[in-house]
Amino acid sequence: MKIVQIIGARPQFIKAAMVSSAWKSKCDEIIIHTGQHYDYNLSKSFFNELEIPEPDVNLNVGSGSHAKQTANMLVGLEKHLQNISPDWVLVYGDTNSTLAGSLVAAKLSLPCAHVEAGLRSYNRKMPEEINRVVSDHLASLLFCPTSNAVENLKKEGITTGVHNTGDVMADSLFHFLELAQQKSRILKKLNLKLREYSLLTLHRAGNVDDREKLESITLALRQIRDKIIFPIHPRTQKMLQQFQLGLPRNVVAISPVGYLDMLMLEENADCVLTDSGGIQKEAYLLGVRCITLREETEWVETIDAGWNVVVGASPKAIVSAYNDFRPTNDRPQVFGDGRAAGRIARVVLEQIDCRRKL
Ligand code: UD1
Ligand code: UDP
Repeated sequence: MKIVQIIGARPQFIKAAMVSSAWKSKCDEIIIHTGQHYDYNLSKSFFNELEIPEPDVNLNVGSGSHAKQTANMLVGLEKHLQNISPDWVLVYGDTNSTLAGSLVAAKLSLPCAHVEAGLRSYNRKMPEEINRVVSDHLASLLFCPTSNAVENLKKEGITTGVHNTGDVMADSLFHFLELAQQKSRILKKLNLKLREYSLLTLHRAGNVDDREKLESITLALRQIRDKIIFPIHPRTQKMLQQFQLGLPRNVVAISPVGYLDMLMLEENADCVLTDSGGIQKEAYLLGVRCITLREETEWVETIDAGWNVVVGASPKAIVSAYNDFRPTNDRPQVFGDGRAAGRIARVVLEQIDCRRKL
């Protein structure tokens, strides 16, 4: 039984980690890294910390325009998938690596499973929305993290092959939190105390490639005044330099951190300010209030439960949420029970068994 996992960007390593360990020794897993992310602290550090097997292939596509990056992935993936001829292909989330993997599998008539299917922002200006919609419509198996994702697929007429498994990122968090608490030294290193700082991440093209929006967010940060730790994505670093925008003194910019350090920064923060998808969920799971610096979110459960607010990039809205938004509500278990990866592995292995018996 040969299963290919196609991954390439930071959140995909975290998503694939638990699935990889769930079917360990039950199949022949081949990991193809597209090379979309390549800096040590956006790629290799996750393989090390999360004990993901070394990729069997790295396409090393690197950065580029959407067309160039995706095209290079398509060419590389087609060659390798033809050679490997897997029983199943898995893609994760909504990056260009997801899109390329889904397209190549479909054109080669290889069955493909999409993990984190059914998410929608209903904003087609987001490159990720295009990647998700196409991947969902091409996949034979769709593993949804939430019941809302299942409903979103239904609205588009997708009802077969859909499984509500729970969220694999919740699996990772539950699995690694204790280890992070034992091993991470980041709070000590940065001299941080429980709830005496906030945490910021920013990397969405819609925010950081737009000078006005990026400047607007920096203005809000200046007005907040409290200490804000900012593990800075290379895209954001590049755009701050290009737009010649500085960060206020209360913002401590650091390099992107490893997963265990990130969990500790999140768990102990007073507030998380972010445009990341994964970090909105992690803040919710850890019971930390989240201010989402976007116009909409796919993770509507966190809003409905009252632990996340979507405020866009306006300084007034950001500062007002920072000062006044203090949720105390219950947090229902909307992202599953931490056993999503096991369910995914079981369904895929059963499908392979069934096809062999035909
Ligand atoms: C990508 C995904 C996004 C995901 C994010 C996770 C797409 C369209 N976007 O965005 O959905 O949320 O990953 O972090 O697939 N760079 C480096 N080193 C690296 C990687 C990138 O310096 O290892 C810089 C380059 O200047 C590059 C820029 O970051 O041009 C953007 O990288 P890219 O992979 O195109 O998109 P992300 O913003 O990382
Ligand atoms: N993350 C990390 N170090 C960082 C920033 C993020 O380990 O410096 C983790 C974070 O905890 C989450 C995932 O990366 O698990 C989110 O990835 P990202 O924000 O890049 O992408 P998105 O989820 O928005 O697609």
